[in-house]
Amino acid sequence: MKITSKELRNKWLKFYEEHGHVNIGAVSLIGDGETGVMFNVAGMQPLMPYLLGKPHTKGKRLCNVQGCMRTVDIDEVGDPTHFTFFEMMGNWSLGDYFKKEKTAWTFELLTKVFGLDKDKICSTVFAGNESAPRDEETAKLLMDLGIKKENIFYLADNWWELEGTVNTPCGPDNEWFYPRWDKPTHSGVCDINCKCGRYVEIGNDVYMQYKKLAGNKYVPLENKNVDTGFGFERMLMFLNGVTDGYKTDLFASVISYMEKALNIKYGANEEETKSMRIIADHVRTSVMLIGDENGILPSNIGAGYVLRRIMRRAIRHAKKINLPTDNLLEIAKIYINEVYDEAYPLLKEKEDYILASIKTEIDKFNKTLELGNKEFEKVVASIARKNAFMRSNPDFVEDNTISGKSAFRLYDTFGFPIELTQEMAAERGLNVDLDGFNEAFKQHQELARTTNAGVFKGGLADDSVWTTRLHTACHLLLAGLRKMFGTGIEQKGSNITSERLRFDFNFDRKLTDEEVATLEKFVNDAINRHIPVERVEMPFGKAKAAGAYGIHKADENEIVSIYRIGDVDFQICGGPHAQNTSELVNFRIAKQEAVSAGVRRIKATINNK
Ligand code: ALA
Repeated sequence: MKITSKELRNKWLKFYEEHGHVNIGAVSLIGDGETGVMFNVAGMQPLMPYLLGKPHTKGKRLCNVQGCMRTVDIDEVGDPTHFTFFEMMGNWSLGDYFKKEKTAWTFELLTKVFGLDKDKICSTVFAGNESAPRDEETAKLLMDLGIKKENIFYLADNWWELEGTVNTPCGPDNEWFYPRWDKPTHSGVCDINCKCGRYVEIGNDVYMQYKKLAGNKYVPLENKNVDTGFGFERMLMFLNGVTDGYKTDLFASVISYMEKALNIKYGANEEETKSMRIIADHVRTSVMLIGDENGILPSNIGAGYVLRRIMRRAIRHAKKINLPTDNLLEIAKIYINEVYDEAYPLLKEKEDYILASIKTEIDKFNKTLELGNKEFEKVVASIARKNAFMRSNPDFVEDNTISGKSAFRLYDTFGFPIELTQEMAAERGLNVDLDGFNEAFKQHQELARTTNAGVFKGGLADDSVWTTRLHTACHLLLAGLRKMFGTGIEQKGSNITSERLRFDFNFDRKLTDEEVATLEKFVNDAINRHIPVERVEMPFGKAKAAGAYGIHKADENEIVSIYRIGDVDFQICGGPHAQNTSELVNFRIAKQEAVSAGVRRIKATINNK
């Protein structure tokens, strides 16, 4: 190993600190909720107000190494250079230096500090459009520094912005590429536009000087900023003279663990190697998302669903190469204890919680997978039968499509994420009617919505469903009481009928009308945020340490079940619960009374029940 991951992080920071930058450290991997972006996809994301002009307390020159999460390239994961979680080495000028200094520093860092060959470096600049001019200035600076003219390319899409957002900073970018091997391995042109995999983007300098408004309009910013992001994993790969990011120290122990467990050699078989990379990447991402300061758990909506897809894909690939699925926990431990012990110490603190959450999802998926696989085989067999039957017809065109309805059934009844069905279909030479799936999904949502609104023409929701939802309402109610009156408030009893909940708690007076309104608002806000209700299992002692509460008492090592309702509630409880707070629709306190000295009772309904 020429340079370790720990050394590279330090080298990046040291270089920019020596050039007057302050290390601002990293923030959570989970989106900030303001931009509407689910995850932190770039180092600049938390810095947007400052790129738009707000003064930063640490000054005008900042740097860090920031964990990022992107799903755009998820289908590429499995090759040697793509990852879902990755670290971005970043630095920023907030209206301070601009192109001249930045091109010079990037060039100095890449060639002098990192020792890359200047004649092999390729660089792309913005070709220009109606919103912003062609970036001749950067191209000239690059040539003056010594980058070969033939290695500089003008591209129309060298423009960086946070997709799907408005009122955010953006601008033309200067991207940097390096070849993984010297000579092309095929005939014809092989440059940065070639798809053979020889050239890999290692990072970019964005000249953030515009603000994106609604309707794809761009206005110049008062400050001219620089936003730099370099790919940590890829740089580590080049600096160690390997052509595969999974051969760096970030993954070496995990890969060798799998080699030993399976008695196979990484790289010997293409399909197996691909599965090993997917497992290595997806387990790492799962650890990071669950163990984050704002950690999430797998669920069926939003960021939780992205996590579920990633976890289930890892589990499936483990099965594909005959790796016992519980071995994924050993892989998670390697990341927590060896690879990220220094850079992400929070993972160690949350180790038990992370492992318990992964184990819960493995067990859940294993249960459904067996039935789901049978169902999938049935679908495949029926397509084959149909084709065989129709083949006698002279006008017959083979149809190898899994219908949207079948794909939705696999999703809804058997817990197969659509990507899983697509991936399994592709392995069998089939495709999936994605539009049909989306249509079926929409119809289902519509049905769920009308169900929630209380229209039960076909008897879609039976009483047990309401017993379940009212129980979730009890959790939200207690969370609200604890928020308003302190964590000394405890449940003293509860009773649920199909009509209402009854909840007793320690308190010594009647709640005022204002307090009742506040409490109702608290619960209804949680309902309107459509928060998934998630269950994990872990030893009682660990659950307490992780902040879980409840009246249930147990031995330290006894495994207990805990329900998490996002950031609202984390309570030891046997369930059952609604899957999502949105099922409750509307919460109303109907009555309050005294039970005994110091114990009060609330009766409440949901959705007018
Ligand atoms: N914001 C730029 C990127 O994410 C640096 O690539």
